[in-house]
Parts: sequence; structure tokens; C-alpha cells
Amino acid sequence: NLFPLSSTTGAAGGYAPLGASSSSGLEGGAGARGGGGGGRGGSLEKHKTLTYLNGLSLIVGLIIGSGIFSSPSQVNSHAGSPGAALIIWVVAGILAWTGAASYAELGGAIPLNGGSQVYLSKIFGELAGFLFTWVAVLVLKPGSAAIISIIMGEYLVRAFIGAEAETVNIWVDKSVALVGLALVTFLNCVSTRMGTRLNDMLMFLKFVALLGVTVIGIVVAATGFSLSGPANRDWKDHPWFEGTKMDASAWAVALYAGLWAFDGWDNTNYVVGEFRNPSRDLPRVIHTAMPLVIASYILANVAYFLVLPLDAINSTNTVAVMFGAKVFGPVGSLILALIVSASCFGALNASTFTSSRLVYVAGKEGYIPSLFGRLGTGTGVPPTPELSSLRTRSWLKKKLASLVGDEDTGLFFTPIPALILNALLTSGYILVGEFGTLITFYGVAGYTFYFLTVLGLIVLRVREPNLERPYRTWITTPIIFCCVSLFLLSRAVFAQPLQTLLVVAFVVAGVPVYYWRVHGRRGPVVKREAGGGGREGRPWWKFWKRT
Ligand code: ARG
Repeated sequence: NLFPLSSTTGAAGGYAPLGASSSSGLEGGAGARGGGGGGRGGSLEKHKTLTYLNGLSLIVGLIIGSGIFSSPSQVNSHAGSPGAALIIWVVAGILAWTGAASYAELGGAIPLNGGSQVYLSKIFGELAGFLFTWVAVLVLKPGSAAIISIIMGEYLVRAFIGAEAETVNIWVDKSVALVGLALVTFLNCVSTRMGTRLNDMLMFLKFVALLGVTVIGIVVAATGFSLSGPANRDWKDHPWFEGTKMDASAWAVALYAGLWAFDGWDNTNYVVGEFRNPSRDLPRVIHTAMPLVIASYILANVAYFLVLPLDAINSTNTVAVMFGAKVFGPVGSLILALIVSASCFGALNASTFTSSRLVYVAGKEGYIPSLFGRLGTGTGVPPTPELSSLRTRSWLKKKLASLVGDEDTGLFFTPIPALILNALLTSGYILVGEFGTLITFYGVAGYTFYFLTVLGLIVLRVREPNLERPYRTWITTPIIFCCVSLFLLSRAVFAQPLQTLLVVAFVVAGVPVYYWRVHGRRGPVVKREAGGGGREGRPWWKFWKRT
């Protein structure tokens, strides 16, 4: 069994998609440590090595990415006042928390790898699961990678020109973003392990940066110390709620920006199969991670407010650089710019890793042309007889592979076509989009499916009350999540009609593709799956009926 990729059986027959496979090493970090990425032999179940602490560091490392260093301007300018902005951050955090808790219940009730795709297929039929994969391949994955790349580009450029400089031409930022994306894509084409190792290292940087910002902010506020001119006094004479906007659409946009920073909370569901004790640890991980992240985000925001004037925060995507410059002068801004761009690089790397697996499995399933379900020619030892034709063995190549830690799979035994497709789509979003609009676009698409999935939890409670649920959240949890996301989605229509329309267009375009590529070929697959439960034998509009 090859790392994530080799589960061709899973992909062809079962619920596979996103996960069969990808559960190991998903989004970096713990996967490599935990499941050993599948490694030599054995199903993932044999590698139940993730502990509570592994899970915790995985999810926290995944959630803390670009957002907390860049979203504050969007949240602030749309909320109107620091007080309102902090409330938006709390609401976004709690929404993410209720979502994560709901996903924890689903993960226990439907103990299959694959996250939303699987839950939607089981609950609403395969069309829903297909549409999720479709939108994830075309919008969610490349969209989020584009946002992270753009922020990485902006921070890197800032590192060189300094925080005080005039804004540079946006195409400079975008070019740097594209170069970063190309580099990450190339690394992922070469080796599987290299990236996850890199991520383990980068995770510490993020903690340090966030913790540093908080501590420094509080010290600066308490002592008035600041290397560049007099400390900011704005917060002393500015009433916290002055200027609050009374506009639900603006709140929605602010909320999308906050939610971006919390996004990634669904990702523990991909590694659920690797926990030693999933039913105990998954909920525990979520109920520690989410409050931890919420608290650290609130503190970081308070630190920004204490150190920087309001207009300054409102006007920049690189608030952390400005923060560094204010406190420590040019050196501070350089250091923070480098740390944050490294953090984005790590996030981009993790995201590229998962996306390519998602695209790959979609290709294998026949959701998209099968070209994207192919692997590159590896250089390692053939893992299975039927794959051995793909390999070339030579002493040098094997040596190289072992240098980067890919002894099993070799170099270039990666889903290269999928990686290229993902990079092309991401480049498209980088070229046409910019941070503020992309996060709303991403949010609308993402929360459409989060909403449906959590709604599915409620459907499942009614439809199959006796289903074994090792973990049950309070029923209020999914209800709160559904209500707030419904508000968010309904407001998006007014706040950002163009983005909303685009998302709808993408989803709708997926329907004929489903009937053309998937539904028509269902026959044999349905038979193979008989007894697999759930998605076959029930038209989607009868989703409430038990099979
Ligand atoms: N919360 C992350 C950030 O602030 C973004 C996570 C992107 N989503 C994902 N599933 N990897 O940058």
C-alpha cells in the first residue's frame, strides 16, 4: 500500500474520494508522523498512532495560517469599530467551533475517511457528494491556495521594501505569489515526504509569531515602549464601539474574513481513522483546539489595536509587518514579514498536498478526466507488481529518494497531472482576484457545503435515530451553525452579488457533468457497492427515507 495514492481499490469501489487515501498525511504534519503516510504495507487502520496531542498540533497548525496576519483589515473596515470587530472575531470563532463539533459527531457516526464528500453522499445521495468534490476541485482548493499565495507574496514584498514604503504595484505582489506557487508545486511533484517534513518545522514559527505578537502588544500597551516614535494612543481616547456599521451585509463580509482565519477546522475529520481512540480523542481535540485558537486570535487582535492606529489596521493586508515596524522599527518589520511568509509557504504546501490528492481521487472516480488520476513515474522500489512498470530503479535515484525521505515511493511518484491542474487553477485565481474579494468568494462556496453537511447531521438524527454515535453534540450546536451560515449565505447575495453568482454557476455547472460522467456509468459500480449502504438505490430527493 503506497502512501495516500495507492488506494486505487478504495477509489474505484468505495467511498474513497478525498480520503481513502488522503487520510494519511493530509495537510502535512501529523500524517507523516502518524500514519507514516501509509509507508510500506498495511492499511491505515494498522497505523493508529495519532494521540490527542498529535491531533491538537495538527489542527492548530492547520488553522493558523495567513488569516490572523491579514484578515484584520477586512474585519475592521467592514465592522466599523474595534469593539464590533472583536465581536465578529468571537462570532466567527464560535461558528467554526460549532461546525467542528458537528463534524466530530459525523466523523463518529460515519467512520469513513473523506470528510464532507462522504457525509453528503451518505446522507443526500451521490450527486451532493459529487458537487462537493467538483466545487472543491474547481473553487475551494485553488481559491484558498490563491488567497494564501497572495498573502505570501504581499508579505515577501514587504520584507524587502519595508512597512513604510508606498504600496507597490499589485502585479509585483502577484508575480511573487505565482513564483511561490510554482515552487511549492514543484516540490510536491518531486516528493511526498519532503513537504510534510517542512510543515512540521514551519508550524513552530506560527506559534512563535502569534504568541510574540500578543506578548509584545500587551507589553507595549503597558509600558508605552515603541522604537518608532511615540506609542499609539488611539485606543485610549477612541470609544470601542464608535463608528460601528449598522449594516447586516457589511457584517457578513466581515464575518467571511474572520471565518477565513478559522478555516480548516474540518480537517481532523480526514485523519479520524488514524487516531488511537477516535471517539474519545476527536471531540477532545476539537474542544481544546477551538477555544485555544479563538483565544489566541482575540489576543492578537487586541495587540494590534493596542499598538497600531485604527486607520493603519484598516488599510493593510500585512498588519503584522506594520506591527513589527511600529514596535521594533525596520528590523521588526523584516522579521515579521519573513515569519509570516514562511507560515504562508507552509500553509500553501499543506494545501497543495491535499488538493492534489483530492484532484487525483476525483480523476480516479471518473469525476474529471482520468488523466488527472495518474501518477508520475517514480524512482523508488515498486510497491506493487502492477505499478512496477512505472518505476525506474537506479542506485543514484534511490539514493536521492532516501535523502528526502521518500525511500518507499521514490521521487516523482506523485500525482503530477493533478498538481499541475491545481496550480493552473490557482494561478487563474491569483491573476483575477485579490484578497478581499477572494475570501468572500471562498466563504460563500465553502459555507454552502459546510451548511449542507451540518444540515445532514440533523437529517441523520431524524432519519436514523439509532445509528451508533460515539460522540453526540448538543442538538443546539448544529442548529446554531445552520442558522448563522444561512444568514451568512443569504447576506452574501446582497453584499457580493458577483461572487455569489459565480459560486452558484459553478455548482449548477456540476449537475450536467454528474449525469454525463458519473450517473451514466453507475450500473456496475452500484452492484459492487451493494451493501455498502447509503448512496445507492435512493433518489436524492428522497434523502429522508432510510434504506
Ligand atoms: N485558516 C487558514 C489561514 O488562516 C486557511 C485555511 C485554508 N483551508 C484549508 N482547508 N487548508 O490561512
